[in-house]
Amino acid sequence: MTIAITPVPADPVDHLLEIGLKDLWYPICPSHFIKENPISLRRLGRKIALWRDGEGVLHALEDRCPHRGAPLSQGVILGDRLSCPYHGVEVRHDGVVMRVPGSPGCKLEGSKATRHFHVQERAGAVFLYNSKEPVDVPPPLVLPEQLTDDAEYGSFLCYTEWKGDYRYVLDNVMDPMHGTYLHKQSHSMAEGDSSAKFGIRPTDIGFVFEKEGQRNVNFDWTEWADTGIHWMRLEIPYPKTGGPGGNFIIVGAFSPIVKGMTATFFWRVRKLPKGWERDTWRFLYKNRLEARHWHVLEQDRVMLEEMEADANQHENLYQHDLGIVRLRRHMRNLAQAQLAEAAETATA
Ligand code: FES
Ligand SMILES: [Fe+2]
Repeated sequence: MTIAITPVPADPVDHLLEIGLKDLWYPICPSHFIKENPISLRRLGRKIALWRDGEGVLHALEDRCPHRGAPLSQGVILGDRLSCPYHGVEVRHDGVVMRVPGSPGCKLEGSKATRHFHVQERAGAVFLYNSKEPVDVPPPLVLPEQLTDDAEYGSFLCYTEWKGDYRYVLDNVMDPMHGTYLHKQSHSMAEGDSSAKFGIRPTDIGFVFEKEGQRNVNFDWTEWADTGIHWMRLEIPYPKTGGPGGNFIIVGAFSPIVKGMTATFFWRVRKLPKGWERDTWRFLYKNRLEARHWHVLEQDRVMLEEMEADANQHENLYQHDLGIVRLRRHMRNLAQAQLAEAAETATA
């Protein structure tokens, strides 16, 4: 007997979501990834060469030489240019070919032949503007106050790479109830009701998914926001042993690496004025708390990495999952709108 296998056409909405929505900022790596040599990163369906010029300013080009496609990241830094290792073609940070040493004066010289990207360094991370088409000036990178107000907040960036689609990471953060179960042995999530009813509260920039009638006891709410970058925020109360300061705040943002791999950024934040209180927390964090936080994050990683890639095709969701449903629908709507706009531009 022969079994006919009809290939299932890929869903364009799913494909766009898989590589990341366009026209948004994304964190792509910690700042310290880029030292004296160029590096190459796969992110957001792209391959990107990153390097620092003599002043330490970061630049990003598509990691493909306009001559014959060799990786520019294997080349040599000449200030604000990279020189390709294969035949020495020099590409400036804005994508313009400045020199073709093997054939001076050829047509390639002076042409803008390589895609360049806008990048910014903030809160210990490199952010890239993932525009559909190249733009001269990107929109401002707007981050939550916890990452920008240094007078009020102290933070540590915790970066990891997980084997799993970033949308499962979004689901995980949009699921406060897992704190009560998956992390029940942790130092900060042992308290509170083990059942809850949730509600959704819209905000100007997104929405909050929160437990009804329980605050500041456990992982009781999650916020999702779009400020030209998608980020999430939550708070978990610290026990007394956690040192001075209020709740433990976590800000998260996530970027696809390649299919089934995610770059996860969690900033661990505390609202503390600069001075001895913040210093005390930073000391405690480094010496005691960080290991515990990693232990909790490990529980999330194991759960996500052990889930089948098609886990979300076989679900039976209940009331706790309203936030996930809302976020997935919103992301699909955004993807559909981007595809419709692209189709319109193509036929115009
Ligand atoms: S491939 Fe880069 S110079 Fe030839
Ligand atoms: Fe978790």
